[in-house]
Amino acid sequence: MAKRIDVKDLNIYYGRFHAVSDVSLTVLPRSVTAFIGPSGCGKSTVLRSLNRMHEVTPGARVEGAVLLDGEDIYGAAIDPVGVRRTIGMVFQRPNPFPTMSIRDNVVAGLRLQGVRNKKELAEVAERSLRGANLWNEVKDRLDKPGGGLSGGQQQRLCIARAIAVSPDVLLMDEPCSALDPISTLAIEDLVSELKKQYTIVIVTHNMQQAARVSDQTAFFNLKEQGKPGNLVEIDETEKIFSNPSQKATEDYISGRFG
Ligand SMILES: Nc1ncnc2c1ncn2[C@@H]1O[C@H](COP(=O)(O)OP(=O)(O)OP(=O)(O)O)[C@@H](O)[C@H]1O
Ligand SMILES: [Mg+2]
Repeated sequence: MAKRIDVKDLNIYYGRFHAVSDVSLTVLPRSVTAFIGPSGCGKSTVLRSLNRMHEVTPGARVEGAVLLDGEDIYGAAIDPVGVRRTIGMVFQRPNPFPTMSIRDNVVAGLRLQGVRNKKELAEVAERSLRGANLWNEVKDRLDKPGGGLSGGQQQRLCIARAIAVSPDVLLMDEPCSALDPISTLAIEDLVSELKKQYTIVIVTHNMQQAARVSDQTAFFNLKEQGKPGNLVEIDETEKIFSNPSQKATEDYISGRFG
C-alpha cells in the first residue's frame, strides 16, 4: 500500500510521433503529485504509461522504466492486468456503468476477480463508498442505477470503484474538469484524505487545484511544433508556485505564454 514510483528515461511514441521525451521523476508514497502544462504537452500520455494503458492503444510504444517500489511494471514477467489492479485510474469524464446499480458499480472490479461472496461484496461496497465520501448520499439507494447520480456523485462513484480493488496508486486525469465548483472541492477534499493511504498522481489544468491538493508539481511543456513534450521541472508545489527554477514554469503559472 502507498508505494513509491520511479520513472526513468521515459520516451513514448504514437507510431512515428515522439510524444514524450526523456522524462524521469519520482513520486513518494502517501503524497500527491500534480502534472500541469499546456494542452498537448504529454501529461495524459505520461500518466497512462504509469499503468501500462498504452498497451491498449494501437501504435503506441513506451521506452524506459516505471518502477513501483523498485520493480519495473514493464518487466517481462509482469502481468499488465495485475498492474492495472495495483495502479488504479480515474478518468476525466465520470464513466460509471449507467444501468448497473450503485452497489454493483463499486464492486464490478471485484466481481471480475471472481469474488462472489455477497457479504464481502456488501462490505467492500460500503467501505469504498465511505472512502469516496459518497456513502451518506447513496446508502438508501444502493440498488438504483449509477447513471442516476449527479456528475460529482458519479465521479466519486468512479473513485469508489477504483479504490474497491485496493490499489496502491491512484492516477487521476483531470477528474474535476466536468464538475461544478462544489463537487470539485468535494473531490479535492477526498484527494487530501486518500493520500493518507495511497500514492496519487493527478493531472489538472486548474492551477489553484494543483496548489491546493499536491505536495509536488511537475510542469510539462511543448517543444516546437512536431517535437516531443518535455518535463521542464518537478519540485515541491510551494516552490513551483512561488519560486520555480525555470523561466518557462514561471511564465506558465503567471499566465504568460509564448
Ligand atoms: N492515441 C494517440 N494517437 C496519436 N497521438 C496521440 C494520441 N494520444 C495523444 N497523442 C498526441 O500526443 C501528444 C500528447 O498528448 P496528451 O494527450 O498526452 O496531452 P495532454 O498534455 O494530456 O493534453 P490535454 O491537456 O489537452 O489533455 C499530443 O500531441 C497528442 O496529439
Ligand atoms: Mg490530457
